[in-house]
Amino acid sequence: MFGFYSYLSLFCDVELIHPSKRFDMTNSATAQAPITVPTGPAGRAIAEPMSGAMLDLMQAHLNLENQSAADYFAAAVWFAERELVGFAEHLRDEGKQEQEHAAKFVDYLISRGQRPVLDTVEPPRQQWPDVEQVIANIFRMEADVTASLLQLYGNAEKDIDRRTTVFLDAIVDDQRLSEHEAAYLLGRVKFAANNPAAVMIIDAELRESEAEPAKLEG
Ligand SMILES: [Fe+2]
Repeated sequence: MFGFYSYLSLFCDVELIHPSKRFDMTNSATAQAPITVPTGPAGRAIAEPMSGAMLDLMQAHLNLENQSAADYFAAAVWFAERELVGFAEHLRDEGKQEQEHAAKFVDYLISRGQRPVLDTVEPPRQQWPDVEQVIANIFRMEADVTASLLQLYGNAEKDIDRRTTVFLDAIVDDQRLSEHEAAYLLGRVKFAANNPAAVMIIDAELRESEAEPAKLEG
C-alpha cells in the first residue's frame, strides 16, 4: 500500500516513518547495530575529543588558578599582620574567586570526559618590602593568568574546538576586568607612595567594598 508517509518521503531526503512505527525496534536498523559511545580516561562519554595540546594547556591553567589562590592568600596574610584589614579581606576574597575559577575548569574538563590532574601548589612568596610591591605582584599575577587564558583561546581556535571557545568567552572578559581592578588598586597604592595615612584611606575603601575603577559609561 502506498501510504501517506511513503508518499511524503518522495519529496524528502530522509525516509518518513509513521509515528506508530517510530519506536518499533524489531524492524529498524538500530535494533541490529549496537550503539558505541567513545569514553574518556574516567569512563565518561565524550561527544568530541579534545586535542592533547588543548588538554595539557587546560590542566596547566587549572593549576595556575590554584597557584593564584595561594598567592592571593599569602598577600592577605601580609596585610593582616599589619592591621590593614580592608586589604587583607579583599585579597582573601580574590583568592576564593581563584579557587572558584579552578573549580570551573575542573567542571569543564569533566564535562568533556577528561580527567582533571591537580598539580603541586608552590609555596607563595610572603616577604615584601612595602604595600606597592605586594599589589604590583598581584597585578603581574593577573596578567599572567590572562596570558594563559589567551593561549588556551588561541589553541581552541586552532583546533576548531568551539565548545572550548564558547566556554572561554565569558571567562576571558571577566579576567580582563580582574586585570582592570588590580591596575586600579596598584594606581591608588602608587598615589599613596607608602604614606601610612593614605594607605589607611585605601584600606578603608576596600573594607567598605568601595574600591572600584571609574565607570564612565552611562
Ligand atoms: Fe582566576
